[in-house]
Amino acid sequence: MSQDNFKKSDPKIEQAAASDEQIQNLHSVLLREKSEPSEGYTPMPLFLLGFVSAMIFIVSIYFIHHRGGLTEGIHEAALIYDPLFDPKTDGGAQVVQEVDPLVMGKRLYTQVCATCHQVNGQGLPGAFPPLAESEWVLGSEERLVRILVHGLAGPVEVRGNTYNGNMPAFGQGSSYNWTDERISYVLTYIRSEWGNEAEPISPEQVTAIREADGSRSTQYSAEELLAIQ
Ligand code: HEC
Repeated sequence: MSQDNFKKSDPKIEQAAASDEQIQNLHSVLLREKSEPSEGYTPMPLFLLGFVSAMIFIVSIYFIHHRGGLTEGIHEAALIYDPLFDPKTDGGAQVVQEVDPLVMGKRLYTQVCATCHQVNGQGLPGAFPPLAESEWVLGSEERLVRILVHGLAGPVEVRGNTYNGNMPAFGQGSSYNWTDERISYVLTYIRSEWGNEAEPISPEQVTAIREADGSRSTQYSAEELLAIQ
């Protein structure tokens, strides 16, 4: 039996079929107006994708023209900001900063030595000997450099008073590990401060005296130093 025959044969079933059709029509209208909910992300609208790509492109072109040498070699990058640049000299390429031994020496003295020998270089009676007018400071460089590089222990006479303390080593390999330059700066400073007037000591002098001692790692005694001219 065909469907047509069926419909014709029973009007009730025919009516039900018609209303099925109506329901489907109604649903399709609803579906047209509201999209079906779905899982996952909505893809980016095409115009937004185009806009963002265009921005990235434009910014890249802009960066290439305005990067100020940022992606050049390290040498050119160093020229972006050069605090030593002075247009009056050779373009600021090679400006060597001069170190003032007295300025550096004073800084080192204040930070380190003044704890014991005091800012005024007078030391502390009974504990730390004075550096002002000290025969050790004003005398032989050979002894003075050795006191700084290796330290000093045991009895020592300074300006008529005897001290028996312990002066730490400052040279290479000591816990301070000062360079020969630093030692020369601080010694040059103490030889010209508080009324002291003695020749400056150069880094080369410190190097020569330090090397003459080889791998010595013990403090000097005053007695041992006095044997050195
Ligand atoms: C921890 C304390 C201390 C510090 C820090 C110290 N000294 Fe001394 N210094 C001494 C003592 C103590 C003596 C005497 C050593 C002895 O009795 O054998 C001495 C002796 C000396 C002497 C020989 C004696 C004299 O009075 O002339 C000189 C020079 C000297 N120190 C320079 C320095 C310099 C420069 C510094 C800084 C780099 C320094 N000292 C840092 C404690 C110190």
